[in-house]
Amino acid sequence: MEAEYALRISRNVAKAVRKAVAQLSLEQRKKVVGNGVDGSPSKLVDVVAERAALEILLKEKVTILSEEKGFVGEGDTYVALDPIDGTFNAERGIPFYSVSICFSDSESLKDTFFGYVYSLESDEEYFAAEGEAFKNEKMISVSKKDDLTCDAIFYYPTKLLPFKRIRIFGSAALELCYIAEGRFDCFVDVRNMLRVFDVAAGIFIVKCAGGKVTDNNGLPLDNKKIRVGERINIVAANPSLHKKLMELIK
Ligand code: IPD
Ligand code: CA
Repeated sequence: MEAEYALRISRNVAKAVRKAVAQLSLEQRKKVVGNGVDGSPSKLVDVVAERAALEILLKEKVTILSEEKGFVGEGDTYVALDPIDGTFNAERGIPFYSVSICFSDSESLKDTFFGYVYSLESDEEYFAAEGEAFKNEKMISVSKKDDLTCDAIFYYPTKLLPFKRIRIFGSAALELCYIAEGRFDCFVDVRNMLRVFDVAAGIFIVKCAGGKVTDNNGLPLDNKKIRVGERINIVAANPSLHKKLMELIK
């Protein structure tokens, strides 16, 4: 599959999810209707968004790992889909949640060729392919800030940290895009909790925007798989700040 085609599909998915979610009241959104693939509760907003996304994606020859349903579809292209990343925000009316879609030529993240994240409330679209990353069609890059008096997204501080600001917004997919565009300088989440569909697209977008993304040991995430149960730790920043972050968290 070509990246251009993946972009077209992703845009259709984003549009469909936005429309479907907008029709739900906050009361409806938070209703628990089952369990996702990793056992965490599925809310109506997750299920409605997933249904809208899969209606489009299942027309393609793709193997999809989606947060609620698990594996569906069949094809050589792998898709990691998070129909709503930031469910807590979506059900409380906090305008920070997204659709996240990652396309890979294999089940491994190293073969990712397209990443897409759409912010469902602010109408901001991020995507990346072939070493370039874009927000609303304009090329983006990570910040140049290279010391620890930076602005950080950090899950969660357990000691006093030297950052200028710390924020935690609640959608890892979108937070990684904030790093890709230099809105924040770094993203750190080493709780061993992030699932592959939460972050696969965001990781690729940060890398294409010139960032370095590794686990808490400084190892690349290329061998991470689009699999149920995969857990990912992330340190993302420009290469120079990344080095300082590794010292800080070790
Ligand atoms: C969550 C978000 C959040 C992260 C959690 C994820 P969900 O995904 O990405 O930022 O801290 O670990 O589970 O459940 O809203 O799709
Ligand atoms: Ca998620």
